[in-house]
Amino acid sequence: MASDRPPLAEQTESAPMRLGVLTGGGDCPGLNAVIRAVVRREIKDYGGEVFGFHDGWRGVIENRGEELSVLRLRGTLPRGGTILGTSRETPYMVEGGCERVAETMADRELDGLIVIGGEGTLSCARSINDEGFAKVVGVPKTIDNDIGGTERTFGFDTAVSIATEAIDRLHTTAESHDRIMVVEVMGRHVGHIATWAGLAGGATMTLIPEQPFDIVEVCDALAKRHAAGKYASIVVVAEGALPIPGTLEVSEPAVDRYGHKVLGGIAHVVAGEIEQRTGFETRVTILGHTQRGGTPTAFDRVLCTRFGVGAVDAAHSGNFGHMVAINANQISSIPLADAVGEGLKFVPEQLWETANVFFP
Ligand code: F6P
Repeated sequence: MASDRPPLAEQTESAPMRLGVLTGGGDCPGLNAVIRAVVRREIKDYGGEVFGFHDGWRGVIENRGEELSVLRLRGTLPRGGTILGTSRETPYMVEGGCERVAETMADRELDGLIVIGGEGTLSCARSINDEGFAKVVGVPKTIDNDIGGTERTFGFDTAVSIATEAIDRLHTTAESHDRIMVVEVMGRHVGHIATWAGLAGGATMTLIPEQPFDIVEVCDALAKRHAAGKYASIVVVAEGALPIPGTLEVSEPAVDRYGHKVLGGIAHVVAGEIEQRTGFETRVTILGHTQRGGTPTAFDRVLCTRFGVGAVDAAHSGNFGHMVAINANQISSIPLADAVGEGLKFVPEQLWETANVFFP
């Protein structure tokens, strides 16, 4: 049905803009859905243009990318990954990188830049904006859901669904063999994925970075459960979970070329200790990047679409230096300083208490 409403540009009296868009940091289900929404909103509703930079900030530094159209984004709503490519590089890592960002913005005649990324990418976006190299609007992306100022980041719901399905599947094999299954999920600084998937999947115990664990207590709890006749157990471990200092030795992870710790493997340490201390047969499953690949859930597709539309609207309202956020199901834009300046968003105490109700 045709709408009687005048075009948005007329309703808002906002002039068309030429916006840049980039995806930075680790990839995440829903990136394409955000790009698609940005393109639709700017081109169709405001009559403007969108330029997509390739490979995150690297594309801005090197002035590389492509003009985006509604047609180019066709079919991308359910597609995982990012059609633009991504990298962990930031202008601050490259000699003269910030100046090159300003040059690219001028050369491409861009009014603003929509930066879709996690903590690192958005912290950089904040500085680039505040130091006047480009006018930026952020979109909070990460399966870890650890960015402040927003109840949700996109990709989290998808990761939780994937982890929950894996836990469901592990239950039956664990029961068949009377085994303990230790499942490692992502979450380098926070345990949102572990807590949600643990609750949704009926895990026996969940170990998260915010709550350093005592391996003796973990083993005692499992032994208590076994003594009560419930043999198979699922232990969910966030990749960043750590023992209480001095209780268990864990080797330092390697660091990648961006100074980013390469996590993954704490489940092996936990499982080895469980088997050795309790004698219960134990197996490890590390979900790793499967949690980041593939199609976004319906929830994430909708969230990404709302974030993309909201980011363009924020630019047209002059809200640069802001990030779109969702709180109480309302999209708003908040200062980037409130999102990335206040530290990470940890698992709320109330949710953790609920998770504890189900531990032995
Ligand atoms: O930050 C999101 C995240 O998925 C973390 O949970 C994980 O530790 C990290 O990315 C993995 O990064 P990479 O793809 O560089 O191995």
